[in-house]
Amino acid sequence: MKTNVALIGFMGVGKTVVGQALAKKLNKEFAELDSLIEHKAGKSINDIFQQDGEITFRELEIEVTKEVAKRKYLVIACGGGIVLNKINIDRLRNGSVIVYLTASPKVILKRTSNEEEERPLLKTQNKALGIQELLKFRKPFYKRAADMEINTSKLAINSVAEQIISKLKDNESFNL
Ligand code: S3P
Repeated sequence: MKTNVALIGFMGVGKTVVGQALAKKLNKEFAELDSLIEHKAGKSINDIFQQDGEITFRELEIEVTKEVAKRKYLVIACGGGIVLNKINIDRLRNGSVIVYLTASPKVILKRTSNEEEERPLLKTQNKALGIQELLKFRKPFYKRAADMEINTSKLAINSVAEQIISKLKDNESFNL
């Protein structure tokens, strides 16, 4: 039986806030892969990208995912690029139902523009175009990994969490 829920999806779809709400409702522990990576590296995601490059970040992401995938009774908020290395999804799938959160490019742009620290992959001249292109490339990876899909564009955090729970109830491989 699976006891974890892993949230995947593009930057700005609400993986962290929804994950926290979901963990509370399900009485599970919340784990955010980006925070665990920062902890392991002893520096921020932005510093890892800037000083060590994306490849080093992806290696850390693989290591941390491997560790977290072994644990139980978690709600896991993954980084937006988790799907780029298939090994991550293979490892997560063993113990986790994989929930794909989506949002329209417009909503993603708005949400990611309101934050104080810009995400390293969105530091481009034309952010709207950057999002569109990255989203187009990644969509098939997210779709392939997903056990279920929920659009967060118009939903409040708690309703997204409730929708996930009602879908989890129908999932025979999941131990609620
Ligand atoms: C990334 C998303 C970020 C973070 C890193 C790379 C990506 O996480 O892991 O900046 O490749 O989409 P969020 O999706 O939580 O912003």
